Amino acid sequence: MAKLWSVLVVELFLHIDTMSGYYYERRSQCLYSSRDLNDMVLIDSYIFNKIEYLQFNSTVGKFVGYNEHGIYYAEKYSNDTALIQGLLAGVDGVCKQSADFCYSHIMDKTVEPRVKVMSVKQASGNHPAMLMCSAYNFYPKAIKVSWSRDGEPVTSDITSTEELADGDWYHQIHSHLEYTPKSGEKISCVVEHASFQKPMVYDWDPSLPESERNKVVIGASGLVLGIVLSAAGFIYYKRKSSRP
Ligand SMILES: *[C@@H]1O[C@H](CO)[C@@H](O)[C@H](O)[C@H]1NC(C)=O
Ligand SMILES: *[C@@H]1O[C@H](CO)[C@@H](O)[C@H](O)[C@H]1NC(C)=O
Repeated sequence: MAKLWSVLVVELFLHIDTMSGYYYERRSQCLYSSRDLNDMVLIDSYIFNKIEYLQFNSTVGKFVGYNEHGIYYAEKYSNDTALIQGLLAGVDGVCKQSADFCYSHIMDKTVEPRVKVMSVKQASGNHPAMLMCSAYNFYPKAIKVSWSRDGEPVTSDITSTEELADGDWYHQIHSHLEYTPKSGEKISCVVEHASFQKPMVYDWDPSLPESERNKVVIGASGLVLGIVLSAAGFIYYKRKSSRP
């Protein structure tokens, strides 16, 4: 299986001469494929007009040239013990230290998702009902959102978005479940994420959500107020009209 390399660009020197159109670049990359950073390689590339003519590879331990100019400098630089030692020391001193810093300050950090389960569509006639489970503002991106029905995992009628980037390091994801309601059943959304010790279970509460309850309360109050006022008005009218 091909290794998946992570690249950390630690230094980029770019010189573009707009008058002549020349383009010079030196790029130092730290490549590694495992979290323990044991296979860290430092690659130092020298590039002229987008062609890499000279490269230092810390595994090889010397410079290699790819054209006449490159070969000349490869010999010259490879002879420079202090330069080679310095570059080899960079594998630990620069590459591993920078990667450790990135992991401890960014990549190993986790932020718990805020999870909401809501109804998108009520069942009507032959059409099934639909629930949506949304997870917001989590980091890192990797997450698993699944459904269970009376404790059993649901395997069909689920559609999910990708993890959507919010553009501020956080992500969101939305999973939809189509189902035919049965009375007394319990439907839950199960979220697995690096910020949780164990999968978190969010039960679907089929009672009216708060905003709907508020609408009902406001509507009922309005109705009561209307009845009271019209009764008061009617009594007032009756009294007035019964006076001689
Ligand atoms: C660095 O050198 C090693 C050993 O020759 C090689 O396996 C590896 O592919 C080289 N890396 C790059 C990026 O050229
Ligand atoms: C590299 O070093 C060897 C031995 O010290 C010397 O003979 C050779 O000329 C050097 N090459 C360059 C390109 O400086």
